[in-house]
Amino acid sequence: MKSVFRDDILDGKVAFVTGGGSGICKGIAEAFLAHGMKGVTIVGRKAERLAAAADELTKKTGREALACPADVRKPDEIEKALEATLDRFGRIDVVVNGAAGNFLAPAAALSYNGFKTVMEIDAVGTWNVCRASFERYLRDHGGHILNITATLHYAATPLQIHASAAKAGVDAITRNLALEWGPLGIQVNGIAPGPIDDTEGMTRLAPGDVRDAMIKGVPLRRLGTVEDVANCALFLTSGAGSYVNGETIVVDGGAWLPGMAGFSKMMGVD
Ligand code: NAP
Ligand code: COA
Repeated sequence: MKSVFRDDILDGKVAFVTGGGSGICKGIAEAFLAHGMKGVTIVGRKAERLAAAADELTKKTGREALACPADVRKPDEIEKALEATLDRFGRIDVVVNGAAGNFLAPAAALSYNGFKTVMEIDAVGTWNVCRASFERYLRDHGGHILNITATLHYAATPLQIHASAAKAGVDAITRNLALEWGPLGIQVNGIAPGPIDDTEGMTRLAPGDVRDAMIKGVPLRRLGTVEDVANCALFLTSGAGSYVNGETIVVDGGAWLPGMAGFSKMMGVD
């Protein structure tokens, strides 16, 4: 699809994208490269899938995607990935926190460790990557942090207490860091996608006919695409969003506006 943006808006820049080996964040990595970035590091735990994604992105865009396997729960692994990025590309302009884990589980059956695991990947992982990239590069050079969150916690979403708590934490991180690091030339923003088609998130959270019911509940009457989210990332990081700070932009076709009552009904918990 032809982009609505000029293809040089991110000329020469470099991004560090957690969760960039698949789904929405792979799409963001591709959009960055297709709009002028000279390099993008993608981070995830599964080395083989990550290498294949980097290969695909490099071939598709003619610019370099670097695969750096790391677990966002482990600061030493993040630091190594940041080091490899700086060795290879010499700079980091944009950090995207997209790594996340989720599944459907009723609070009454969710284990202590199930809750903790999602908090640690989404919320603590986002903090770990923000802190490490600040220390290693952003404090001295400025840049942009983009946290991928959700709308689950705007009202209350059934079977999602773990992810709702984690993404609420991510949104707090976005606002606090925007406040504290803005004076250093670091913009911190978020994107809250709604239901995005052809992604792991949709497969896990909207199985079977829930998908069709979900489409009917979206005011724009369609699921989102990875490009819808990537376009927002381009807006925020390209300079078009140069005075946006501490904001989370919802990219959901208006899906959360009616509240989650409809979703509760679909999941049989109303
Ligand atoms: P996805 O393809 O499963 O993306 C999640 C990525 O995170 C995977 O590449 C995974 O790679 C990586 N990851 C998971 N745990 C990690 C860890 N501990 N350390 C490093 N990387 C880790 O899912 P998606 O649906 O595209 O979701 C992407 C983002 O959008 C997430 O933040 C999600 O919460 C958000 N979101 C999605 C939707 C949707 O409709 N899809 C809606 C709202 C919000 P490995 O398994 O290799 O580690
Ligand atoms: N329902 C209830 N509990 C679950 C679960 C499910 N479907 N899947 C995992 N858990 C629990 C486990 O039982 C375990 O708790 P326990 O020790 O009390 O049994 C805990 O969560 C950790 O599971 P584990 O598989 O060891 O964690 P992990 O770190 O290997 O994987 C997950 C993290 C569980 C989030 C995994 O689904 C994942 O890696 N997801 C990444 C992709 C993704 O979720 N994409 C969608 C993004 S929106």
